[in-house]
Amino acid sequence: MPVQKDTLGVGFIGAGDIAVLHAAAVGKCPGAKLVGLWNRGQDRARQRAAEFGCRNYATPEELVADPAVDAVFVLTNLETHLEYAKLALAAGKHVLVEKPVGVSVAEIEQMRALAAAKGLVCLPGHNYIYESGMMRTRELVENGDLGTIVSAYVMYNIHHPEEVAKRYPGVVRQILTHHSYILLYLVGKPVELCAMKATLHYQEYPEEDIAMVQMRLANGALAHFCASFAADDHAADPWTVMVKVIGTAGSTRYSYRDHVEIKPGLVHSQTYTAYQGSITNEVRYFLLDCLRHGAEPLSTLADAITAQKMIEAAEASIRDRSVVRLEGS
Ligand SMILES: NC(=O)c1ccc[n+]([C@@H]2O[C@H](COP(=O)([O-])OP(=O)(O)OC[C@H]3O[C@@H](n4cnc5c(N)ncnc54)[C@H](O)[C@@H]3O)[C@@H](O)[C@H]2O)c1
Repeated sequence: MPVQKDTLGVGFIGAGDIAVLHAAAVGKCPGAKLVGLWNRGQDRARQRAAEFGCRNYATPEELVADPAVDAVFVLTNLETHLEYAKLALAAGKHVLVEKPVGVSVAEIEQMRALAAAKGLVCLPGHNYIYESGMMRTRELVENGDLGTIVSAYVMYNIHHPEEVAKRYPGVVRQILTHHSYILLYLVGKPVELCAMKATLHYQEYPEEDIAMVQMRLANGALAHFCASFAADDHAADPWTVMVKVIGTAGSTRYSYRDHVEIKPGLVHSQTYTAYQGSITNEVRYFLLDCLRHGAEPLSTLADAITAQKMIEAAEASIRDRSVVRLEGS
């Protein structure tokens, strides 16, 4: 049921780094307002509430009970997404939950069931696909304009200092989740995959800082993922974030390097404008297209479940040094 109010109120649960991008995105969305936030640590909560010009709620329960809040953004660490998504959905609020959506398929299934039972939108934070270049690629693939798809590549090489990386799981879960939903959106689900990982840059953090995956798609085409926190790519035409789809009748490219500002961006050495841009587009689509006008999300919790199955298959492949067939393929 579309939200009819003049102003769509947004509340943030979690006010870490990604909240800065979401606050800027809500600020750019016509007819939307960041009403307030809750963050576990009060120092950061006060600082961010002042920075964003919004309320600082004492508890997450108080935030979700506020009638001025129509949509809750769950922006905490992965392990707490389910708890806060459930709290917000049970209170009748629409939800945007950051990626990776849950720690397991079962967690995402719970969110999907609760959102469906309540008739609410629960949108996974699959921001990259809300870029026009991604949408155009999908349209070309769907129309058959690229001919037979022969290969797809999603490459990510962005150095993250160890103290930043420690806040996240390794790159398999943290970054290959992006790759997985991008592939699903552009060319569909793989039927089998194999993966490898390594740790080359961290001194103490025991997780991987680079991982690669090889996949076979349903039509027999091959696909490749690379996700690295180990090093930036400084070469000409760098693969900072690069997505390619190649077909017998044409090909497409999306690159973070198309719009670069020479200043640090959060933990990145430069500002990749597409990062903020994709979140701005995602938030606008969620609030205006989905909540105001009843459009379907471009990527759903069903896609988040498939992406999670791809991640778990990659983990199994790494563990067993095997090629893993995806369930239902
Ligand atoms: N879409 C993207 O491109 C993108 C980029 C970065 C991060 N993220 C996602 O956003 C989420 C937050 O990442 P971040 O970079 O803002 O991290 P962060 O460490 O800067 O912030 C995480 C927040 O979660 C809170 N938190 C931690 N443990 C908690 C707990 N047990 N209970 C309640 N709150 C708790 C912290 O107080 C902190 O404010 C993660 O799910 C991450 O994967 C998405």
